[in-house]
Amino acid sequence: MEVIIQPSAKDCAAMGARLIGKLLDSKADAVLGLATGSTPLPLYRELVRMNRSEEIDFTGVTSFNLDEYIGLPGDHPCSYRYFMEQELFKDINISAGQTHVPDGLAVDVSEQCNAYEEAIRACGGIDLQILGLGSDGHIGFNEPGSSLGSRTRVKTLAGKTREDNARFFDSIEEVPRHCITMGVATIMECRQILLFAFGEAKAEIIARAVEGPLSSMVPASVLQMHQEVKIIIDEAAASRLEHADYYKEVFAGKPAWQCI
Ligand code: F6R
Repeated sequence: MEVIIQPSAKDCAAMGARLIGKLLDSKADAVLGLATGSTPLPLYRELVRMNRSEEIDFTGVTSFNLDEYIGLPGDHPCSYRYFMEQELFKDINISAGQTHVPDGLAVDVSEQCNAYEEAIRACGGIDLQILGLGSDGHIGFNEPGSSLGSRTRVKTLAGKTREDNARFFDSIEEVPRHCITMGVATIMECRQILLFAFGEAKAEIIARAVEGPLSSMVPASVLQMHQEVKIIIDEAAASRLEHADYYKEVFAGKPAWQCI
């Protein structure tokens, strides 16, 4: 696990975009795992800018999103399919048929979850997964207590998550109670993972995920077991890390060939 502390969310986003650019330079048909929420927005803006200036090409890319609310159609303004179309897909040259977001209206949800796993496998697995971090430690919508061996499935959203996400809806009553999410084990199979977190509000959960004990009560702590994970955070989100100075020293002392 590599913890990279940057002055601002914009710097973190620029670093993430460079890492994605580097991946696509070496593998034009890479498979990206994508997230929604506020955290990836600066990254998506930077990817759009790079795509416009022809620094990055998404023509060969396939994408899989982490999750979707059950009960929301893809054209609902609060659905994650809609979010992705608005915030990224419509502004980059990814082919529409290559983007995957779980279907919140699937009739046979369990069949759809299996098919999602199978589609990821059929593409050769996810090369690079973007993650945000829930204030309760969730990744995807794997809430505290999620099996660390879980696969794509239905989850019930925690009260805290519904509260946090109510800002996207007119009222908390409108926030769906259920979702489809990639499982913890699905995420752990991604070859490379970039987790982003910004702001003081994420500081405590970042400290628990990075420096606390590994526990299904903080699902993100399982990332301590992954060999290619970068935790890319701003100063505010890093403010409760006991070993922040050490992480900065490691990053500053990276040999040139490892620099991002
Ligand atoms: C979204 C997702 C969630 C969010 C998390 C943080 O697809 O999987 O895990 O990343 O809830 O949300 P924000 O970024 O809005 O704080």
